[in-house]
Amino acid sequence: MTIERRLRDQPTLRTPRLRLEQLGPEHLDDVHAALGDSEAMRLTGTRASFTAEQVRAHLDRLPGADDRADFAIIRAADGVFLGEVVLNELEADDLAMNYRVALAAPEHRGQGYGTEAGRAVVEWAFAAVGLHRISLEVYSFNPGAQRSYEKIGFRVEGRARHALRWDDAWVDAILMGLLSDDPLPD
Ligand SMILES: CC(C)(COP(=O)(O)OP(=O)(O)OC[C@H]1O[C@@H](n2cnc3c(N)ncnc32)[C@H](O)[C@@H]1OP(=O)(O)O)[C@@H](O)C(=O)NCCC(=O)NCCS
Repeated sequence: MTIERRLRDQPTLRTPRLRLEQLGPEHLDDVHAALGDSEAMRLTGTRASFTAEQVRAHLDRLPGADDRADFAIIRAADGVFLGEVVLNELEADDLAMNYRVALAAPEHRGQGYGTEAGRAVVEWAFAAVGLHRISLEVYSFNPGAQRSYEKIGFRVEGRARHALRWDDAWVDAILMGLLSDDPLPD
């Protein structure tokens, strides 16, 4: 079975505290609200603002997509939408994808939810999808996210200097990667 087919048949992943389900139009209100969180927009270097219609058009395209996997992070105990975790930018010949994650609100952060979701997605991507490499960029003003990625197993591979201009200051992007045969932290 091809990578594209396995991405298209994206399953629901479960962890002790979370359900990671296909992100789609039913999450419109939650995703649109999350885009109003100015701290998350800064940490992800997101400048654009999106109308509800633009967000809906994006969400409509996700279920069944064969070049990406977008998961809604749902707290299993009460069904609360906590954020999203995404594998995108498929390079099928290289068995490689890009990773990004954002928890929707400040009160959800710092409790390990992002790390728990990331571990499950990475495990699925290597074991079931068949990827060999997952990479990401994290801005140097976001050491909490870098720490979370290191807990998952990502390693620093490089640094793109002055990759972002934010509030009249230059910010570096730290490049991180994880290979399917890298040892994972305990
Ligand atoms: C990044 C994110 C997904 C991490 O998920 P999380 O569940 O909050 O992460 P965790 O609670 O597992 O871990 C955060 C770690 O960062 C550490 N940390 C927090 N602030 C820190 C700082 N200023 N410097 C260094 N470490 C810091 C915490 O102590 C914790 O490490 P520990 O478990 O060893 O104590 C989440 O915080 C988030 O969505 N943030 C907003 C959007 C964002 O930044 N997305 C990533 C863009 S690259």
